[in-house]
Amino acid sequence: MRSYMKTTAIALALTAAAGAAKADGHGVEVLHWWTSGGEAAALNVLKGDLESQGIAWTDMPVAGGGGEQAMTVLRARVTAGNAPTAVQGLGFDILDWANEGALANLNEVAAAEGWDNVVPAALQQFAKVDGAWVSAPVNVHSTNWVWANKAVLDANGISVPETWEDFAAALETLAAAGVIPIAHGGQPWQDATVFDAVAMSALGPDGYKAAFIDLDPEALASDEMKVAFDRMAVIRANLDENFSGRDWNLATAMVINGEAGFQMMGDWAKGEFLNAGKVPGEDFLCFRFPGTQDQVTFNADQFMMFDQGGAVSAEQAALASAILSPSFQSAFNVVKGSVPARTDVSDADFDACGKQGMADLAAAAESGNLFGSMAHGHANPAAVKNAMYDVITAHFNGEFDSETALDELVTAVEIAQ
Ligand code: GAL
Repeated sequence: MRSYMKTTAIALALTAAAGAAKADGHGVEVLHWWTSGGEAAALNVLKGDLESQGIAWTDMPVAGGGGEQAMTVLRARVTAGNAPTAVQGLGFDILDWANEGALANLNEVAAAEGWDNVVPAALQQFAKVDGAWVSAPVNVHSTNWVWANKAVLDANGISVPETWEDFAAALETLAAAGVIPIAHGGQPWQDATVFDAVAMSALGPDGYKAAFIDLDPEALASDEMKVAFDRMAVIRANLDENFSGRDWNLATAMVINGEAGFQMMGDWAKGEFLNAGKVPGEDFLCFRFPGTQDQVTFNADQFMMFDQGGAVSAEQAALASAILSPSFQSAFNVVKGSVPARTDVSDADFDACGKQGMADLAAAAESGNLFGSMAHGHANPAAVKNAMYDVITAHFNGEFDSETALDELVTAVEIAQ
């Protein structure tokens, strides 16, 4: 209730502020949830690009990883007839807004710049509706990563775990040494982000697809899904006692400063390490969650251009064009931790984790191992996603056991569809 009121208050404040910001017609007003240090640094690359073209930027940040609060604020703004110019969006949320007729058609700029030929098919399915480009893809993130403090691992004789058993043994070693094994923030979207990787590892790619994309009740209640829930309980047992409600970037900070060994998080976490001056391979390690080395569970940030009552504005077209430019795609994603949303961008400027991310993405797309992230809105619409969040978080917090979680998951998904 309290957070609802807070969000509503934010929404009203933003609605009032935005009216003033749009009046001059020369700028863009951008609603996003990139408020951590690493995210803000990346966003500055985009702001700088637009400002160098003489386009003013009105910033509408709504804090909250995963974007749930941002989407609540957006709904309030659209309902009030005052949609922002451009809005960060993910997967099925973009399709929902397009199907409501809220988004401007970007086909002119897309055709002039050949987006059809360079944006991977996996992204186009969330950027085009009925042949119309409705959003501009900024990046490709993926969720099945683990981030580790290298000095902590070295001091405890731990090498990169290849299997769940290796990982579980590493957690035991760290706990025995008095180090927090896993840094985590207990928020539903973060619990679900961890579950993306744990479930992929336990179910394998076919099982992940059957459960999270096809919503097959047998896969949702399978023995492998029970294994996934059991492993979530092991992870839960390896957190510090203050994990509840913690923001994801504060969990990343615990790995950065050596308080904790690992964090399981999407590659936006790398932005925090870089922002703290840390170097991959020297200060921190990135690796795929054990058992998911060949898979990529992806989410792509895009900017939806909201229809301002007619054709796409010159500023919206300039923003879309800036976002898709190859030089921007490199400069932005180097800082953000993600990889380019175009297939023709060189990996030369990327660090070791970024190069691996680009190679993994291409290989997974080629081998049929690329899947939309359940946790980040690329497997199913928000209603189903939220139903899954509820079950994953309730189980994580010990409200019921793994066997019961299977029933809860099947029922919740059935009701949400
Ligand atoms: C994700 C988004 C990322 C990152 C993360 C945490 O949903 O795709 O860009 O910002 O949330 O805020």
